[in-house]
Amino acid sequence: MSTSKPTPQGPLWLLAELTYRCPLHCVFCYNPIDYKRQTAELSTEQWKDTMKQARALGAVQLGFSGGEPLLRDDLEELVQYGHDLGYYTNLITSGIGLKPDRLNCLKAAGLDHIQVSFQDATQAANDALSDTKTFEKKLEIATAVKAYGWPMVLNVVLHRLNLDHIDAIIELAHKLGVEYLELANTQYYGWAYQNKAALIPTHAQLKFAEERVQAWRKKLGNSMKLLYVVPDYFEKTPKACMSGWGNVFLSIAPDGTALPCQAARMLPGFVFPNVTTTPIKDIWQHSEAFGKYRGDSWMKDPCKTCPDKEKDFGGCRCQAYLITGDATHADPVCHKSPHHQQVVNFVNQAQSDSPDTPILKVQKPQHIGLAKGLEQP
Ligand code: FES
Repeated sequence: MSTSKPTPQGPLWLLAELTYRCPLHCVFCYNPIDYKRQTAELSTEQWKDTMKQARALGAVQLGFSGGEPLLRDDLEELVQYGHDLGYYTNLITSGIGLKPDRLNCLKAAGLDHIQVSFQDATQAANDALSDTKTFEKKLEIATAVKAYGWPMVLNVVLHRLNLDHIDAIIELAHKLGVEYLELANTQYYGWAYQNKAALIPTHAQLKFAEERVQAWRKKLGNSMKLLYVVPDYFEKTPKACMSGWGNVFLSIAPDGTALPCQAARMLPGFVFPNVTTTPIKDIWQHSEAFGKYRGDSWMKDPCKTCPDKEKDFGGCRCQAYLITGDATHADPVCHKSPHHQQVVNFVNQAQSDSPDTPILKVQKPQHIGLAKGLEQP
């Protein structure tokens, strides 16, 4: 079946990035590197209207993300509204600011799911990677989320600086009674791309981590599900990013800009529509931005003639742009891409014993030392 001129269904997924404000400064953050200049945020009523329009188009999943969505005082009101519209609601949070009174309100509002993130398994490493003292608070919050009866979903982003701690991370999750542990290797966008020389792991680290995950899966059985995603720089075929551009996923940035993925804003030559001026139906079905990489008519070789193009959609447009300077190229993770060697070079460079130190997520980049907090727990 050709995907050249698809009629867009959906969207199925609405991601409400309520704010770019965040108390953490994680070195692997995918948010825009100029996020501090992007301060405009939609009002409560504008978010509600956005949720209503997307639901009318068929969206069923609603994620509240950021930045840190708890920094919005109207989060509970928005969750309640989303719940009443019939969405399955998900809060993606660092947990910082999630006090008992807010947990009570979110429960009453009908929030279905909370995903809390940790940076590592020890206070020193967690706090060093986020440049904040948040580990103890996160422990309290994870325990409280469980006590309130939500399924406990913990997310830990993996990279060179914490992959060796994989056993301690899984042990911590087990101790907290986590039902789902998402071990997601870093995706190199935004700040993570800037910091990639310090974050890309070694082959030995990945091999070790994969073996340990397998061993823990056997040991834990069904009591805790371990989701482990291999970093795509180490793959030979690209990921089906966002399940295809403009296919199922609609992300709304804090200022109302509608995006086919959170990273798309950096792509040049686009005028992304905004929900404050354009109805979501028009954005989804008729905007140039959402139609640009839908289907396969935009593709050139090797994607155009590839039998896998309906499975991987040519990979990730943002990654193609970041690495090759042209978003219409095949994702260079693909071994058929003429730019694949650049990804291989990134990985090879990272095998050195003295990687670059990470740059904090601040406007004026400063380097932090790796010594404190990042030793083996
Ligand atoms: Fe933008 Fe993959 S992150 S298309």
